[in-house]
Amino acid sequence: MGIQITPSILNADFAQLGAEVARIGSADWVHVDVMDNHFVPNLTFGPTMVEALARSTDIPLDAHLMIEDADRNALTYVEAGCGSVTFHVEAAAAPVRLAREIRAAGARASMALRPATPIEPYEDLLPELDMLLIMTVEPGFGGQKFLDLCLPKIRRARAMMVKHGIETWLQVDGGVSLETIERCAEAGADVFVAGSAVYSAADPDRMVAELRAAAEA
Ligand code: DX5
Ligand code: ZN
Repeated sequence: MGIQITPSILNADFAQLGAEVARIGSADWVHVDVMDNHFVPNLTFGPTMVEALARSTDIPLDAHLMIEDADRNALTYVEAGCGSVTFHVEAAAAPVRLAREIRAAGARASMALRPATPIEPYEDLLPELDMLLIMTVEPGFGGQKFLDLCLPKIRRARAMMVKHGIETWLQVDGGVSLETIERCAEAGADVFVAGSAVYSAADPDRMVAELRAAAEA
């Protein structure tokens, strides 16, 4: 598949989300951060908003669920029209069953790890996933500093995928910018979320192109 850029709308203007998404026309996906004020100390939006956003754009939605009880809530976001749904393993009681349910419902199944969550216990589960998300900040807010300590985990995850001969996408999220994206790509990531880097740029779509070029370099 190659390099993909998935801007996060977390730092966009929530009062005009449709227009904000129209400013990132060359994005591969729109990353939507769903937060419930329990799994993370922040609150964003739920399925109704996501469904409206899905109807307003041709760009597929990449939902990142930072919510408790993912087992019970994740399928709502497939129904809302998301092409990819990421749940946190720390919030899922039965991640294998959940990944299978997401796939069966017609979306790409993805699992996220917080910075302190190791990849090793989940190696055998990787073939059940279409994407693995390795967080490079503590989830909850945009604009935080990239955690270099997560780079070895990205490297190890990519090595596991190569070993298993699977083509699982490897996404990074948190502090991704022109300054940090090359490190992530070099470690083996191929799907890049960028929130504040894109929406603080004067021309967000141009930043998407610049991030893509930097990751491909
Ligand atoms: C943080 C969210 C991210 C956030 C990234 O918990 O999951 O998607 O929007 O924002 P930046 O790119 O500013 O770190
Ligand atoms: Zn996110």
